[in-house]
Amino acid sequence: MLPYFPFGQRFNDKMGTAPLSESDRLVEVDAQYSPEITLKRQLLTELPDYYFQTLPDYETAQWDVVDIILHNLARFGPDQFTLQKNGDRWHWENHLLNEAITFTFGDATTLPYAPLDWVGRQVQEDLIVLAGNDATLVAGQLCFANDWCLDEKIGLPFGQIHAPIMPIVEPMMQAAQKLMERLPIGRPVWRANWSVKISDQLDMTSRHTTFLQQRLADRLPTLTPDTIGDQLYIRVERQTLTRLPRSGAILFGIHTYQNRLAVEAADLQRAKQMAQVFSTTPQAMLDYKSMTSFLPTLLTYLNNYPSTSI
Ligand code: HEM
Repeated sequence: MLPYFPFGQRFNDKMGTAPLSESDRLVEVDAQYSPEITLKRQLLTELPDYYFQTLPDYETAQWDVVDIILHNLARFGPDQFTLQKNGDRWHWENHLLNEAITFTFGDATTLPYAPLDWVGRQVQEDLIVLAGNDATLVAGQLCFANDWCLDEKIGLPFGQIHAPIMPIVEPMMQAAQKLMERLPIGRPVWRANWSVKISDQLDMTSRHTTFLQQRLADRLPTLTPDTIGDQLYIRVERQTLTRLPRSGAILFGIHTYQNRLAVEAADLQRAKQMAQVFSTTPQAMLDYKSMTSFLPTLLTYLNNYPSTSI
């Protein structure tokens, strides 16, 4: 089952952020760790400039990310990761991957990749860095994006990044903009968002959009209340926002989880909550999320779920 289930009594038009407490992980390591890291590294080998980008002059922020993530991994997974520090000489051991490296903190020449690119290869999360008052996207390693990519958004401020949805959820995005301006150091927050997809491929960056739209169009005629549970996937992102101490930039971390609709809907409470949210989602948002074509079938399925099986 999905570890996060952001479906309640109706569509949530609020930001849905909550504080991340001292006992909460900033990055999560789950059973998919090894295959997802392997996939991420394959993608970065195939198309390095598509999946990792940085504007000049943001190295301090990248080191901030290395610092916060390595400490977090070692603190929450002492059997999985070890960090030893001797001044600026840091020794990192990743026991899950059987890897070790010694590097000089602050000296990028001692790492095999740019600091953000290197540390991103240690975690399942996509890592995005935003800087300045308008929270401009200045660097990112983004392999598992849902329908966007760095080429489209690098150099854009928070408001413009969200241009397609601004008119749909404007008050939410204004609140989010304020949060980006005021987020204090040491007070990270998190939220979860959701989507319903025709595939469970993790990499849904924009280069796959045409293919995925075609797949949905092709499968649409076969989606019935009896088949839809096996054909669709619920995709949930656990998103964290952390103000970085040295640079003042913000780290936006995205951990993508997904599961077959039928498996989630086997829990009748979850089926009911999904139906409640989908049936109250504004039409423009349904269009944005490409759900309009199958929504009636989806609701019939969820509302009658007890009569069907996985
Ligand atoms: C509290 C903070 C945030 C809120 C409330 C928020 C909200 C949203 C919402 C409602 C959507 C529409 C799709 C969906 O529901 O999944 C969306 C899309 C998106 N968000 Fe955010 N977001 C936040 C932070 C961020 C940050 C920090 C980034 C940094 C890059 C970001 C990047 C995006 C992108 C790229 C899209 C897709 C836009 C497109 O279709 O072109 N979001 N966001």
